[in-house]
Amino acid sequence: MVNDRKVAVIGCGFVGSSSAFALMQSGLFSEMVLIDVDRNRAEGEALDIAHGVSFGSPMKIYAGDYSDVSDAAVIVVTAGAAQKPGETRLDLVNKNVAIFGSIIPQIRESGFNGILLIVSNPVDVLTYAAIKMSGLPECQVIGSGTVLDTARLKYMLGEHLSVDPRDVHAYIVGEHGDSEVAAWSSATVAGVPLNDYCELHGHFDHKAAEARIADDVKNSAYEIIEKKRATYYGIAMSVRRICTAIMRDEDTVLPVSSLMVGEYGLNDLCISVPTVIGRNGVVTRVPVALSDDENAEFQKSAAALKAIIDDAGLND
Ligand SMILES: NC(=O)c1ccc[n+]([C@@H]2O[C@H](COP(=O)([O-])OP(=O)(O)OC[C@H]3O[C@@H](n4cnc5c(N)ncnc54)[C@H](O)[C@@H]3O)[C@@H](O)[C@H]2O)c1
Repeated sequence: MVNDRKVAVIGCGFVGSSSAFALMQSGLFSEMVLIDVDRNRAEGEALDIAHGVSFGSPMKIYAGDYSDVSDAAVIVVTAGAAQKPGETRLDLVNKNVAIFGSIIPQIRESGFNGILLIVSNPVDVLTYAAIKMSGLPECQVIGSGTVLDTARLKYMLGEHLSVDPRDVHAYIVGEHGDSEVAAWSSATVAGVPLNDYCELHGHFDHKAAEARIADDVKNSAYEIIEKKRATYYGIAMSVRRICTAIMRDEDTVLPVSSLMVGEYGLNDLCISVPTVIGRNGVVTRVPVALSDDENAEFQKSAAALKAIIDDAGLND
């Protein structure tokens, strides 16, 4: 039986603890179990976060193990090595695939049948690995994908155009990483095509501004890691947003990473495109319009991910 009030977070480092903190504040769940190979770390974070409960909603928060996850509605996996300064997300493949080899089978053996939300990097490759290792229906395994990159894009465009980022509709698609693609051709502000909106507000040098913003989005993580070792608040809010869409059965469109089944001619890899998310996970993918150039970049991004999946022998 799935307990709709229960969430588990595996990996309690910067990202796991911040996500747990954001989930505590969300009021979505009344029970949260934290798991880490470093048991002290999980216990310390559980205590610290629990001490905020009296300012929020009642909630049981504790450090546990895999016997505690069987009935969770959502498991958020953030365990694994993080990028070091100068390291790409793809450099983490072997280390984190091995860590997943110790985590996902234990989730499977627990009998878990909720939504598995993968955050560890490289998130697209690890989402694919988690589908293979968990035996869960593929709609129940979601990667946080480019939800964070898209939030960064909306924030930066909002700043550039002096408009609420929530009224900017624009997506980063593709790999959560160096080959990601800004889908400019479908971007709007309140339904007005981005180029028209820019000109109405006196911005005419679109191409240069787009290239600069897309570059800043792509390099945000590198800049933050250089300055403060890790990124965690933005991803924590992304985790909270995805969990909200799931637990409230919102059918919200978010650019999560999921297994492609023919969309854009792609199969047997996980990549981010706008996707409808509800209580059972992935409902459907939304084929956002891409220009020829964007599609070519997107296909390159997919090919890069496919090569890594093949090299790592994950599709055997
Ligand atoms: N998807 C995204 O948008 C996004 C954003 C930021 C970071 N990340 C990724 O999240 C991951 C975590 O980053 P971080 O900064 O929190 O790193 P961190 O080093 O602070 O935390 C990782 C935690 O995982 C734990 N861990 C390692 N092996 C484990 C295992 N087998 N079982 C349980 N726990 C285990 C460690 O003890 C540690 O507490 C990294 O892979 C990072 O690249 C993803």
